[in-house]
Order: sequence, then C-alpha cells, then structure tokens
Amino acid sequence: MTETLAEMAMQGDPGTLATEEQASKIKLLEPQQLYELWERQHWLSHEIDFAADRTHWENLSDEERDWFVWGLASFFIGEERVTTQFSGLVMAYEDESEEAFLTTQQVDEARHTQFFDRFYREVIQIEGDNWEQRLARVREELNDAFVKLFDEELVEANQRLVANPRDPAAKVDFVTTYHMVIEGTLALTGQFFIVDYLERHNLLPGFCDGFKKVARDEHRHVAYGTWFLKEKCGSSDAMVARMRSCLQELLPVASGVLVPKGADPNDWTLLDYTSDQVNEFAFKALTRRLKAIGVPLVAEGVPA
Ligand SMILES: [Fe+2]
Ligand SMILES: [Fe+2]
Repeated sequence: MTETLAEMAMQGDPGTLATEEQASKIKLLEPQQLYELWERQHWLSHEIDFAADRTHWENLSDEERDWFVWGLASFFIGEERVTTQFSGLVMAYEDESEEAFLTTQQVDEARHTQFFDRFYREVIQIEGDNWEQRLARVREELNDAFVKLFDEELVEANQRLVANPRDPAAKVDFVTTYHMVIEGTLALTGQFFIVDYLERHNLLPGFCDGFKKVARDEHRHVAYGTWFLKEKCGSSDAMVARMRSCLQELLPVASGVLVPKGADPNDWTLLDYTSDQVNEFAFKALTRRLKAIGVPLVAEGVPA
C-alpha cells in the first residue's frame, strides 16, 4: 500500500481533485473498500483534547466569537439531523457491503454530534443539562434556509425511503439531498474555510483536530454518494432526471444556509472570506463530483 491514509481518505471523493479531467477518470471506491477504510480511520470524539481551546475561546474577538456561535450552530444541529434522519438509507441497502458501509456512516454522524456537543459544553460552556435543552438553545441561531433544508426536505426524503426502501427514485432523491447537497456542497465547504481560518490564526487546536477528523469521515460519505449515483444514473435516464431536478431545487436553498443573519444573500463576507470565494469553492467541488457521476448539472443543449 503506497498511499498515506490522508490520500486514501480523499481519493474516493472526486470533489477534492484539481481538474474536471481528473474527476472524469477517477476510479470510485466501492462500499466494501469504504467500509475497510472506515476501520482504519477510527477516532474517539471523547479523547479530543480541548485543554487549550477554553482560553483561546475567551481571547477571541467579539466578531470571531459571534461568527463561531452562528457558524458552528449549523454544524451541531446539522450533525444531529443527519444522524436521526439516516435510518431509511440503511434499510435501503442492496447487498452486505453496502449495508456494512451505511451502518458505519450512521455511527460516524452520531460521533460528530457527540463531538460538537462536547465542544459546546466544555469550551463555549452553553447552558443546558440535557440534549433537548442544548439543541433548543443552539437552534435559536439558525436561519430559515437551514430549517427548510434540514427540517423539511431531508426529513421528508428520509420518510419516503422509510415508507418504501425498495423504491430506487426515493433512494436517489435521498442520496442527492444528503450526500451531494448537504455533505458535499455545504458541510465540506464550511469545514474547509473554518479549518483554513483556525490554522492560519493558530486558534482552537483541539477543535481543529476533531473537525479535520469529521471532514475525513465526510469525504468517505460523499465518496459513497458519488459511487451510488453513478451506479443508478449510469443505467437510467429517469434517475438522471430525478437527480438533476433534486439538485436544481435544493442548491439555491443550500446557498441560503451559508448566508449570515441579516447579510445581503448575494454579497456577504465572513471573517477573511467573501461570498464569491465560498460559493466558487462549493460549486467547483460539486462540478467535479457530477463529472465523476457523468451527469452535468444542466442537460446538454439546455440553456443554463
Ligand atoms: Fe457528519
Ligand atoms: Fe456525513
């Protein structure tokens, strides 16, 4: 085995490649390989060391603290949503390898929720004796686009799959919503800019360590979604149309999730980054994944 673990974690996710040309030629990892990768990439959310983070948190500027309280709320509640709204996909497995991988993804999402809960309790020192109180408090920070995407679209897609796990259209809708839009377009974009900021400013080392491990898990999840959609869309024009209409409906909602409260949705700045930088990063990664799947966002011959 010549690759490092870090390289292996990225290689199944074409969103990380430098060019569309590379993305179109990538050999996607299959669920069995992704399961085996999970065994090698195990980590413990309760062993992340937050000792230095508490002092760092106290020393952040007001602008930084406000931003992190807002930005991380979408991650904390987002992880809770993607943990509890995942069971339909586990029920929809088509062979043992896919089932093995999907069960690892559900436990990964629970681990991510635990990681954020620890950070909110031990570093931000949020009030609330139980999960319900803490989640309710953090929910106060969310915007309307988040509620639409995570509490309506994701919940409904999961319920359709729970009602009929053998319905291929329901499975394509769910994986497009969850793996392509929520994980691939939103979560990995947010993680990239947050880690970039924290590393450049030498801030919150424990959080940064854990968040990079979360991102490594997310690359595996998105690699599964890319593999699945290529399998389904490669043999069915109906599934291509389904995936494309789901993306076209949800991408504008997803871009709204990234807009800070009260900001102009077309022109905002967050810490060191402009909305153009963030949207371009998200769009490029999505385009690479769609290239690997073989389904461009807009059908050829149709004006964009
Ligand atoms: Fe996650
Ligand atoms: Fe995930």
